[in-house]
Amino acid sequence: MSIKTIVTTPFADQKPGTSGLRKKVTAFQSPRYLENFVQAIFDTIQAPSGSTLVLGGDGRYYNREAIQIILKMAAANGFGKVLVGQGGILSTPAASCVIRKYATFGGIILSASHNPGGPDGDFGIKYNTGNGGPAPEKITEAIYARSKELTRYRVIEAPDVALDQTGTYALGEMKVEVIDPVADYAELMESLFDFTAIRALIGGGFRLCFDAMHAVTGPYAREILEKRLGAPTGSVINGVPLPDFGGGHPDPNLTYAHQLVEIMVGAEAPDFGAASDGDGDRNMILGRQFFVNPSDSLAILAANAALAPGYAAGLAGVARSMPTSAAADRVAAQLGIPCFETPTGWKFFGNLMDAGKVTLCGEESFGTGSSHVREKDGLWAVLFWLNILAKRGLPVEEIALRHWAEYGRNVYSRHDYEGLPSDAANALMAHLKGQFAKLPGQRFGNYQVKFCDDFSYTDPIDGSVSTGQGLRIGFEDGSRIVFRLSGTGTEGATLRIYLEAFEPDPAKHGQDAQQALAGLIVIANELSELKLRTGREKPTVIT
Ligand code: G1P
Ligand code: ZN
Repeated sequence: MSIKTIVTTPFADQKPGTSGLRKKVTAFQSPRYLENFVQAIFDTIQAPSGSTLVLGGDGRYYNREAIQIILKMAAANGFGKVLVGQGGILSTPAASCVIRKYATFGGIILSASHNPGGPDGDFGIKYNTGNGGPAPEKITEAIYARSKELTRYRVIEAPDVALDQTGTYALGEMKVEVIDPVADYAELMESLFDFTAIRALIGGGFRLCFDAMHAVTGPYAREILEKRLGAPTGSVINGVPLPDFGGGHPDPNLTYAHQLVEIMVGAEAPDFGAASDGDGDRNMILGRQFFVNPSDSLAILAANAALAPGYAAGLAGVARSMPTSAAADRVAAQLGIPCFETPTGWKFFGNLMDAGKVTLCGEESFGTGSSHVREKDGLWAVLFWLNILAKRGLPVEEIALRHWAEYGRNVYSRHDYEGLPSDAANALMAHLKGQFAKLPGQRFGNYQVKFCDDFSYTDPIDGSVSTGQGLRIGFEDGSRIVFRLSGTGTEGATLRIYLEAFEPDPAKHGQDAQQALAGLIVIANELSELKLRTGREKPTVIT
């Protein structure tokens, strides 16, 4: 089979963001675009000849075509074997699991996570290293640098590989092993959680609803929740993965997972509701008429970890992204374990987990996970919750209320303003930063500014420094406001405003977060001149 070297010219815009390179499908379909980026990955990682790679994606539009291209390029670049999920499918946490289990050199994951799919939607690609986690910044920067100087890529001429049947196929000198995308992952979940207790809970009449949002977790949830744990058929809704996610926005939040939200606030609501995103790494947890804020979810999992067999031996530490609330810090303090504060994005947790410093990690953006893999993991969080519910025998809301009564409540909300003109968003951030010198000491209503900064992080393991990670305004009473521009969008800019206040008084714990944070919301909007600069009256998404 002939290896061809194709002459190409670089694209200037192949800079990976918070989680890989994300662009419109149409950008990836343009000639040489995907090929260039894949070659930049291969040139950067310098895998020894004969190495094994994992490959799979969330099944979105263009997944299948991209898999065939990458397989042929892997064969031309000297890989010995590629493990690819059947049908080209692997959820992000399952890909991480497979990389680790089979100790492969690394993996390529095709996903734009929670971004919409379809011919006019988004597509994405990212490289994960041999620890199963997203490549750290020094590698993504090197891939970007390489992409800007690329003059050729390598590919073999061969027919497409049959992806729908498990088995081993030859592609030139390389082997392609089409694997069951669910089996290894499901086995890992069984090793971490008390499936017997969860089965008994469900057998006792406990009802659940899992919304796969027509994305990748459908087959995983059906196998684990319905088949292995005995939830009645139909407990998983929107369980068939579709290339355009059924026209929906596969982001498990209160706005986009509205079908589930309606079920969970209804009179006949099940005991437990959950949803995951396009590639299966996010989770939203709901009780009957109750929303669990992701920052609280991380803290509750940490506080109850001993109830799950995989974590009964104790946690080494916890980590959270900077904009995530400090609820987990309080649990860590009580457990006497460290709590690390990292920039946004899962790639910052990898070093801490590899060094054995943390067991649980989480982000306010519906991401929770642990050192069982090196990605956040949606279904894992669902199973962890089910394990806790089975052991404690309390409703979701009661578990949250008791948690707050013990630790106090970090009242929290995030306001997203999507699709802003980039210039306006950048100017708003510059305007905020411009006030930083004079803000400390100033009083706004009940709040006095204690500090403000642009968050930067020094990795405690390898000493690498990441700057410009979000503007923080902290107040004397411990409340804070954080402003960040999204690094995952593909259209204009998305401004995220994170609001947090601490409420120790259990009598006030039932309060609505938007009401409790109303004072901070006014300050955030005024300091940023939000309305003037963006013309927006209200956020696109409130969490
Ligand atoms: C968003 C989330 C972030 C998460 C990332 C990938 O990134 O805020 O926590 O790690 O998606 O799922 P952002 O768009 O804010 O850069
Ligand atoms: Zn995702």
